[in-house]
Amino acid sequence: MEYDMVDLVISDLRGFLEYLGKKGRRKTIRQEVSRDLEITEFSDRACRESPNSAPAMFFEDVSGFDSPVATNILASSETLSELFGTERILGMLRTLSSNGENLRILDAARALISAKPKTIGFSGKNYAKIGGFDELPILKVWPNDAGRYITQPIVVTRDPEDGSLNAGIYRMQVFDNESAGMHWQAQKGGAMHFGKLKEGSMKVTVALGTDPYNLLSAITPLPEGMNEFSASGVLRGSRSLLVSNGEYPPAPANAETLLFGSVSKGDYAVEGPFGDHTGYYSIPQEYPVFRLEAAYSKRNAIYPASIVGFPWNEDATIGLFLTELLKPVLKSMNRCIRDIYLPPEGLFTNTCFVSISKRVPGEAKKAMFSLLGFGQLSFIKIMVAFDDDIDIRDTKKVLWALSSRVEPERDIQIIKGAPLDSLDHSSGTVNFGSKVLIDATRKGKEEGYYRDWPDVISMSDEIKKRVDKKWNSAMR
Ligand SMILES: Cc1cc2nc3c(=O)[nH]c(=O)nc-3n(C[C@H](O)[C@H](O)[C@H](O)COP(=O)(O)O)c2cc1C
Repeated sequence: MEYDMVDLVISDLRGFLEYLGKKGRRKTIRQEVSRDLEITEFSDRACRESPNSAPAMFFEDVSGFDSPVATNILASSETLSELFGTERILGMLRTLSSNGENLRILDAARALISAKPKTIGFSGKNYAKIGGFDELPILKVWPNDAGRYITQPIVVTRDPEDGSLNAGIYRMQVFDNESAGMHWQAQKGGAMHFGKLKEGSMKVTVALGTDPYNLLSAITPLPEGMNEFSASGVLRGSRSLLVSNGEYPPAPANAETLLFGSVSKGDYAVEGPFGDHTGYYSIPQEYPVFRLEAAYSKRNAIYPASIVGFPWNEDATIGLFLTELLKPVLKSMNRCIRDIYLPPEGLFTNTCFVSISKRVPGEAKKAMFSLLGFGQLSFIKIMVAFDDDIDIRDTKKVLWALSSRVEPERDIQIIKGAPLDSLDHSSGTVNFGSKVLIDATRKGKEEGYYRDWPDVISMSDEIKKRVDKKWNSAMR
């Protein structure tokens, strides 16, 4: 596969919506809608009607605002693979994991060049200064939410020690015109930067509405210290352009809205409840307060929002896509791994199925341990390993293997005192609890199975073919 970008350049959110329109994957809602709950119901219903292929929703007339609202922009798997050239990226990853034998120098050189973001000074040109959060059509998402939430902010922070940048999507609960809760979970990049701060405050820039490459990079759990705007450059095939006004961290130059502010040690407030992707309202908890210091918006800036709730929504499509993208890396770490599936109903961070071709006794556990050591997969609470004859995306096969290949005392391990996702309310302690590893592979004698493992029933091909010929007339 050649290292070619999609045939059109998507330079910002407007260009992206135009692209989606041309592809017939955008619905423009012209009726007046309320930002309170109504936009959620439209967007959620669209995902429920077409999981993995929902149209982007563009709400032109939001009561009380000139700004339109865009939701579900990454809700179609077709868009994701088209835009991010899945084949191209997978090709690059395969190349990198092929011992350099097939390394394409030009591809590698181009990737390296586009990985260097370009930063220019923020002049405010094309933007107007706005008075605060009240001027943005920030949604109330679910009925029992504690307030209005910015749900698709790209939050950029700078490491207080080495100055490196991090960008992540962390929801922000609006408390008033100039303050909001910063919901970065304990293990995320922004929280890590804030944790390194000994005292005082840290500047934060928030970008709303940018091109899909910056957005996907901010969502992707990249290794700590890796610059998301380098990754978006590689995805885009051209360098990310950032703006900086000196004291605040640089942020995408094509953002519809830029919010400059700070978070300070000792300045916390209770955030939540918020209707989350777990299908539950999150338990209220203290998070740092983002104090808005300056805000700029383009004229009639498009306001972007992501709706999450009971699976599936837009985040399910993104999660499935990212797993496929990361799979070659995970497989190259452990060659026995055949497939990895994080079911959206398993909330991505809570349940993981992995299938393996076992080569040595105990290899199922090795595969599970290696996955648990990889970035945000460390949050996985329920991990199950299957043999490679099990299609781990087929619930019937999964239940069959669980029921026929697991002997609980031998095959189930509880691991205590491990990290968990902040949003896992089932544990009595935040971010911390236990995990279960289930080895649902067939066992050999070295693994404590002293009988002969029975064969799986299947009809011979010869008989199948013979009956094929007789079937239609016999069954008429
Ligand atoms: C729509 C959406 C909302 C999200 N909200 C949050 C959030 O509120 N807090 C959080 O820590 N992660 C949230 N995430 C997940 C992070 O963006 C994701 O884990 C990302 O990899 C974090 O980047 P980091 O590793 O640089 O911190 C959200 C993801 C999506 C797609």
